[in-house]
Amino acid sequence: MVKVVVNGIGTIGKRVAEAVNKQDDMELYGLSEVSAGQGLITLLSPEGELHGTDLYASNDKGLEQLQEDGMHVEGLLEDQMDEVDIVVDATPPGVDEMNKENLYEPHDVKAIFQGGAADDIAEVKFNADANYEKARGEDFVKVVSCNTTSLSRTMSAVDEAFGVNEAVASLVRRAGDIPQDGRGPVNSTIPVTEVPSHHGPDVQAVMPELDIKTLAVKVPVTYGHVHMVNAELEEELSEEDVLEAFENQPRVNLIEADEGFDSTGKVHEQMRDLGRKRADMQEAGVWKETVTVDDRTVYWIHMVHQESIVVPENVDAIRSMFDMEGKEASIAETNKSMEIM
Ligand SMILES: NC(=O)c1ccc[n+]([C@@H]2O[C@H](COP(=O)([O-])OP(=O)(O)OC[C@H]3O[C@@H](n4cnc5c(N)ncnc54)[C@H](OP(=O)(O)O)[C@@H]3O)[C@@H](O)[C@H]2O)c1
Repeated sequence: MVKVVVNGIGTIGKRVAEAVNKQDDMELYGLSEVSAGQGLITLLSPEGELHGTDLYASNDKGLEQLQEDGMHVEGLLEDQMDEVDIVVDATPPGVDEMNKENLYEPHDVKAIFQGGAADDIAEVKFNADANYEKARGEDFVKVVSCNTTSLSRTMSAVDEAFGVNEAVASLVRRAGDIPQDGRGPVNSTIPVTEVPSHHGPDVQAVMPELDIKTLAVKVPVTYGHVHMVNAELEEELSEEDVLEAFENQPRVNLIEADEGFDSTGKVHEQMRDLGRKRADMQEAGVWKETVTVDDRTVYWIHMVHQESIVVPENVDAIRSMFDMEGKEASIAETNKSMEIM
């Protein structure tokens, strides 16, 4: 059993910890933090999904703070490093680098970093669909961001089936996550003035052959990014062919606007109706009606639930880094345990 610690229990960390805890071939050894945020308190409360999981502090100051916050702390993460196989680091950008330098490297423990981490934190950038094999045996891996994950999933489905010559994607991004009320209220559309935006090169980190350019704006919503994509293909094909490629992608769902799911709000409500925890949607959702082929160009619009889409990727990254399973088996296992459809 691979022993996993999740360090930084915020939006991403709490979800990854729950996902790791659901795997048969991994043990959630513990959580690590520096203060008791509402997410951590809820997770470890008697009603919380991870009640009873050991909590560690990732530094001395954090130990004092957590104790002051009334948490039961087992001790310092550093003292456990001989027991731990890997740390999934979901701390804020910059903190992850310090953790790598002070904790993971000196103790020779593998680590996974998240999309906001500096690019040079790990040589391998990871997306299970696009480059699962690249993480095999690696000590440090960065799981790419939510936007990059959705673009990599949809693009790799189309690229593997038909070959993409070049692509352009326009990203409409949420202003903040639901608990990030400090970012709002916002009443503005904010363009990323650097064109193309950094998202294109981020996709190229996992699909180096792909010629893709991106533009981005931020809008005042909290649930979901929306991407409008057009890709020029190497061969002529039909809309049915593209739909089939998306249907065959195990982490892409087709959303039917005709059935009433014609906005991110309606899809959000659908996730709540389905009883998905926190209304999470780990799949990239492509609106079926938007898939349009004109000569060799295919157009589509998809949505991304930013808070949850990268969670299964972290689980698959662990399996790849320890050479535990092949790509298809790992994706299937993670999907089954997390009820990803
Ligand atoms: N949120 C998203 O939609 C999203 C999507 C994809 C990828 N990501 C990436 O995931 C990473 C984490 O983002 P997030 O949104 O989950 O952030 P977050 O909600 O702010 O969570 C980060 C957590 O780490 C804690 N922390 C700070 N310093 C620490 C330390 N030294 N040791 C242990 N824990 C520490 C924070 O505690 P305090 O609050 O006390 O500082 C907080 O609870 C970033 O790289 C981000 O870019 C985020």
